[in-house]
Amino acid sequence: MTAAINHPSDSSNTQVAKEPVLVCVAWPYANSLLHIGHIAGAYLPPDIFARYLRMTGRDVLMVSGSDTHGTPVTIQAEKEGSTPAQVVERYHGKFIESFEKIGITFDYFTHTGTRNHARVVHEFFLDLLEKGYIYKATSKQLFDLQAKRFLPDRYIEGECPFCAFKEARGDQCDNCGKTYDAVELKNPVSKMTGSRDLEVRETEHFYIDLGKLNEPLLEWMSDGKEHWRKHVLNFARGTLEKRELRGTAITRDLEWGVSIPLPGYDTKRIYVWFEAVMGYLSATQEYAQVSGKPDAWRRFWDSKTAPDARTYYFIGKDNITFHTIHWPGYLIAKGGLNLPYDVPANEYLSNRGRKVSKSRGGAITVLDVLERYQSDAWRYVLTALAPETGDVDFSWDDFVEKVNNELVANWGNLANRMLGFAFKRYDGKIPEPGTTLSADDEALLAEVKAGFTTVGGQYEAVKMRAALDEARRLSQRVNQYLSDHAPWTVVKTDPARAATSVYVALQCITWLSTMWAPILPESSQLIHATLGFDGDLFGRQYVETVTEDGDLQHQVLRYDHASAVGKWQAVTLLAGQAMRAPAAPFRKLDTDVVDKETASAEPV
Ligand code: MF3
Ligand code: ZN
Repeated sequence: MTAAINHPSDSSNTQVAKEPVLVCVAWPYANSLLHIGHIAGAYLPPDIFARYLRMTGRDVLMVSGSDTHGTPVTIQAEKEGSTPAQVVERYHGKFIESFEKIGITFDYFTHTGTRNHARVVHEFFLDLLEKGYIYKATSKQLFDLQAKRFLPDRYIEGECPFCAFKEARGDQCDNCGKTYDAVELKNPVSKMTGSRDLEVRETEHFYIDLGKLNEPLLEWMSDGKEHWRKHVLNFARGTLEKRELRGTAITRDLEWGVSIPLPGYDTKRIYVWFEAVMGYLSATQEYAQVSGKPDAWRRFWDSKTAPDARTYYFIGKDNITFHTIHWPGYLIAKGGLNLPYDVPANEYLSNRGRKVSKSRGGAITVLDVLERYQSDAWRYVLTALAPETGDVDFSWDDFVEKVNNELVANWGNLANRMLGFAFKRYDGKIPEPGTTLSADDEALLAEVKAGFTTVGGQYEAVKMRAALDEARRLSQRVNQYLSDHAPWTVVKTDPARAATSVYVALQCITWLSTMWAPILPESSQLIHATLGFDGDLFGRQYVETVTEDGDLQHQVLRYDHASAVGKWQAVTLLAGQAMRAPAAPFRKLDTDVVDKETASAEPV
């Protein structure tokens, strides 16, 4: 490092907050492939969040898994003439592949078909039964006279009793998010047979007494929620303030699902939503077991020994009721476990993927689009379009526009032209500044360096769009600096001054590549290596087979994040450091992409 460089004082390494952070991510139903709406809504934001926190050295664990139960899975199996277990196995494998390809770095991604999960659910169920929150009652259910079967949840469709949406399902309306009993639907029709020949029959089920939990939930919701997104908070408070919570059935007449831990209920199963949310707890415990530290789950969950731990729930808006009312209610009833710290739910990308799912005659699935486009390009666009505060439409025009005119033109161009120029002009080494820093140089360095605080603050606040905008603004500042200083011209007349400008720009690129890294991990790693740094900004994803009780096996996706720890800092770039041969970090898209991608799309 030359004496000529006097870096602005280092403000980036402020003390790291201590609370452990559990990043809980919605469990995808193992009945279809993941499309870009899922990624934008539920999976990319927690990945960016977790990557950032790991880089700052926070104690963070990101968990989820495949939601293997319920009617979404059994209906799919019936549709394709296979078994629910086959459907689950296929899609669980596809999820793991999709997450590996687009770099969603779960520390632990399992599924709800494990013995561990059933054990946790059984204990939870029996505890709530003993505490009087679960009771038995006879309920009225729709019975299909043709199929001679009860019609739980998605086996029934009708008009929503609240908002009149026509395709409301038996358990929940996807339009207004409300839950209700299937018998309340208007004009119900069986999805099993298409029949309207339905009868209301009585059947015995277990209920959770949500009514008892209304006041405790309202109390919890009334306090310290300033950091919550307005739409989530309004929905939850609005629901609770009506004081209309009541007993809700948590078992179903089905043969696929977690069993009821009491004799005499062989033909019934626990309702998928009652048990899937418990996956956050069971997955943390499974992770702890498999890692050989059976108590490691406590530092996220135990409200006595770890009351400051923060649990975040990343979900789409159709899951808000279950994560802000039901699951916190179960946790209150159980006691001793931490309640959600935040539920940064997103709204929909393009009307829940309806539009986005029409391309090439099928859904815009992760596995398909990653065949043709860079993972970081998608991560950029889906962050820029993040439906954080309202529904957002996706179009292929936007995709091309954002990749070419934002990503490639701004950050890509900056990194590309500077790394290429420096490598060629200075013999593959970071140049030594030839002059002392001007006020302009100092100002730029200070402004970009402050990004560790400003961009970092947005990541921490789960405002990924704002983080992206700020990183983009800073990248543009450096582009502007280079246009003003034009080292490629100045080098002919004043090589000392040109070397200083190049050095300053490369130092900024070093920092910016760190700031972009949670959103753009692959290209940041490439730029980092090109600048001559060794080591990885991130860890390694890998698949592992877990064997339970000596026989039952399942695959999990894991992540070893040790190498990321401590990387969120303003590293000083050393003059003379040997660079690596540059390669363009991003590919510019051909203009025919829009035509090609929409050619076979059906009209919406
Ligand atoms: N499987 C549900 C869906 O895809 C989400 C379940 S989240 C969980 O909408 F927490 F309940 F698992
Ligand atoms: Zn509705």
